Amino acid sequence: MTQENSSNKVSRRHFLKGSTLLGAAALTSFGESFVHAASSDELRVGLLGCGGRGTGAAFNILEADPHAKIVTLGDAFEDQLSNSLRNLKKSFEDRVDVPADRQFVGLDAYKEVVKNCDVVLLASPPGFRPMQIEAAVEAGVHIFAEKPFATDAPGLRRALEASKKAKAKNLTLVSGFCYRYEAAKIATFEQIFNGAIGDIVALQCTYNAGTLWHRGRQDQWTDLEWQMRNWLYFAWLSGDHVVEQSCHSLDKLLWAMGDVAPSRVTASGGRIQRTDAKYGDIYDHFNSALEWDNGIRGFHSCRQLGGSDTNVSDFILGTKGQAAIMAHRISGATDWRFEGENENMYVSEMRALSRAIRENETINDGQRACESTLTALMVRNSAYTGKVVTREQMLNSQVDLMPKSLEWGPLEVRPVPIPGMPSAYLDPAKGLL
Ligand SMILES: NC(=O)c1ccc[n+]([C@@H]2O[C@H](COP(=O)([O-])OP(=O)(O)OC[C@H]3O[C@@H](n4cnc5c(N)ncnc54)[C@H](O)[C@@H]3O)[C@@H](O)[C@H]2O)c1
Repeated sequence: MTQENSSNKVSRRHFLKGSTLLGAAALTSFGESFVHAASSDELRVGLLGCGGRGTGAAFNILEADPHAKIVTLGDAFEDQLSNSLRNLKKSFEDRVDVPADRQFVGLDAYKEVVKNCDVVLLASPPGFRPMQIEAAVEAGVHIFAEKPFATDAPGLRRALEASKKAKAKNLTLVSGFCYRYEAAKIATFEQIFNGAIGDIVALQCTYNAGTLWHRGRQDQWTDLEWQMRNWLYFAWLSGDHVVEQSCHSLDKLLWAMGDVAPSRVTASGGRIQRTDAKYGDIYDHFNSALEWDNGIRGFHSCRQLGGSDTNVSDFILGTKGQAAIMAHRISGATDWRFEGENENMYVSEMRALSRAIRENETINDGQRACESTLTALMVRNSAYTGKVVTREQMLNSQVDLMPKSLEWGPLEVRPVPIPGMPSAYLDPAKGLL
């Protein structure tokens, strides 16, 4: 359906917005058709977490949907919000309407942002994602939620529950596992599902990256602000880089495996370059073996090491050949390469989001996004503890990484976990926590 056609259909939330503007009396007198004719096609977008990806996602939805308008912004920090607003306005002056009373700063910004839009883009550090998805579902707004969906099992359970509620409320929930929306990847997986490589026997993925940004420390920053500004390096905020970044690669393996996390994971890892205290409590490399009940195994490695070769690739190996997912290529009994148009996947995912809302064809990525996040958590916890981690153990883990109180003050950094030693993740006497 084209954009013009889709604009005739108005989502329930949009309909309610039109109703509010008209007032109850007008609604009673003129009925639904009047409201449809009078309400505009505008999709009111809120952005929560105005950093690099969040601002990028706002640009992407403005590109994907000509009737989308950014109407509210929220961020923990005022400077981040102002920068984002300035950048968005530079390119889309007429489609960014965020007066001061729809700019929300602080840790409770999410509560206000979701009250002021039809669809919210959630792009803060992932530790906050579960509470933000919950609030968006409660407020009845459609959601784009960046990956990963949580950084610990209690958060994952909340995100999963909220995703189910979103489905029950007919709210669209698109996840930031963006490869799922890329034409070339979709076509490559279609080849696999149509038998081009035969039966899957094994999988392999690699996310070897270099070093990432570090934002230092300013004198006036409290511990909490310092950790939040440098969120990549604290497991409660990022989940560690295997959860924050390499979840993309694990997500592609799960795509091939029907979106079910493996039954068991055995992983190892550590930190050999990023040993300074400024790098918080995370590792810089992981290796893991994933096992599903049907006997298929997956092999995964990831690292963030300077001066080392980088490589992001995934392979699905079958009885008749193999698929190179990032190269969009099948070789073996079938020789195939994707040759179609491949739009920027970040725009494609926003196109899907907008279409689903406008045509009332709900998308809900919650379950599969949670399975991919769960897999990454299994890898992390197995490496941190030196133990085999089963799906059930991870799903039911009571390790709650969120600080007891989120006050702008002192906040200790958890010790870097050493496999086999007591940590927040393992009591050697009791086993996995
Ligand atoms: N899908 C992808 O390819 C992709 C690429 C990059 C990042 N991401 C994801 O997007 C998210 C953000 O990453 P980024 O690179 O934009 O980081 P960033 O640091 O540039 O932006 C994060 C923003 O969130 C704000 N923030 C922190 N805590 C907040 C809170 N409690 N409430 C509201 N705002 C808060 C920060 O101040 C900052 O402006 C992460 O989950 C990351 O994994 C996804």
